Amino acid sequence: MLDLYGRNIDYLRISITDKCNFRCKYCMPEERVATLMNNEILTFDEIIKICKSASKLGIQKIKVTGGEPLLRDDVTDLIRSIKELPLVKNVTLTTNGVFLYDKIHDLKKAGINSINISLDTLIKEKFKDITRRDKFDEVIRGIKETQNIGVKIKINSVPIKNFNFDEIVNIAAISKDKNIDVRFIEMMPIGLGESFKGISSIEILNILEKEYGKFSRLEEANGNGPAVYYKNEQFKGHIGFISAVSNEFCENCNRIRITADGFLKPCLCYGTGLDLKGLIRNGINEKELTDEIKKGILSKPEQHEFNKENKSSNIEIKKMSQIGG
Ligand code: 5AD
Ligand code: SF4
Repeated sequence: MLDLYGRNIDYLRISITDKCNFRCKYCMPEERVATLMNNEILTFDEIIKICKSASKLGIQKIKVTGGEPLLRDDVTDLIRSIKELPLVKNVTLTTNGVFLYDKIHDLKKAGINSINISLDTLIKEKFKDITRRDKFDEVIRGIKETQNIGVKIKINSVPIKNFNFDEIVNIAAISKDKNIDVRFIEMMPIGLGESFKGISSIEILNILEKEYGKFSRLEEANGNGPAVYYKNEQFKGHIGFISAVSNEFCENCNRIRITADGFLKPCLCYGTGLDLKGLIRNGINEKELTDEIKKGILSKPEQHEFNKENKSSNIEIKKMSQIGG
């Protein structure tokens, strides 16, 4: 359905757990991570109810996120059941990749359409530094297996000054020889991200053009949302940019989010939204739930205010792992 600013909202990101086996420095603190209690997290049935009601409003694409979604035992069944909803066309997953090797075959059978894997560095020691976990080899093994069995992969990489700046060319090269898309995500000033210095998309594009020659912008959509994709003659895959901070983001925003505790977030930037879990647990029916989600979509603001000096009082204070990226 269209929101108040004429944007077609057809994409839902649903976080199925706030727990993560990594502690990426820009996302989670090292210790004393407060996580939700089990009874605060959406149940299997609640997730399906929300997806079903959302699909009635024109949500056709659903991304399952976390925390780390593969930590949840019922993730494969969830994906299968979401995929079976008649109005849902596309179900994808964002993961840190540690459990992919073990789960990718079942995920494929369940009907997953593509997998986004977070990878900020190709150097094992640096990987351990940024994620605070020594799991580089497991992630690479998972990526290879996913590629081998023919499930579409997108690599998500967050460029960070003083960390992976010198690796941009190599990270992009993943999509040179293989039909894998590599997407550079601008560091968003959310939670711990605020204290990191990101690198703008235009700067990344300049670095890549110096190395590989011209990248031309693809006009047709190549994904679910505000990523802008580029093609280079030498590359089999595409390079994408998610420029949340620098530009062109909000006018193409097509999404709503559901947090692991069942809160509908119309915009990543603000803490405001609707407590769908509370409503479901109070017994609202399918039609009423659909109406509530509709209200949520109609309350989507026109723009974020990541760039504003003095932010509003309703700015998001949650960590990315609680929101689902
Ligand atoms: N800014 C940009 N991306 C972030 N992610 C986590 N925190 C931030 C942030 N502050 C990314 C992860 C993952 C995706 C789900 O979100 O690296 O790829
Ligand atoms: Fe976990 Fe992803 Fe956050 Fe890293 S960025 S700690 S993998 S949720």
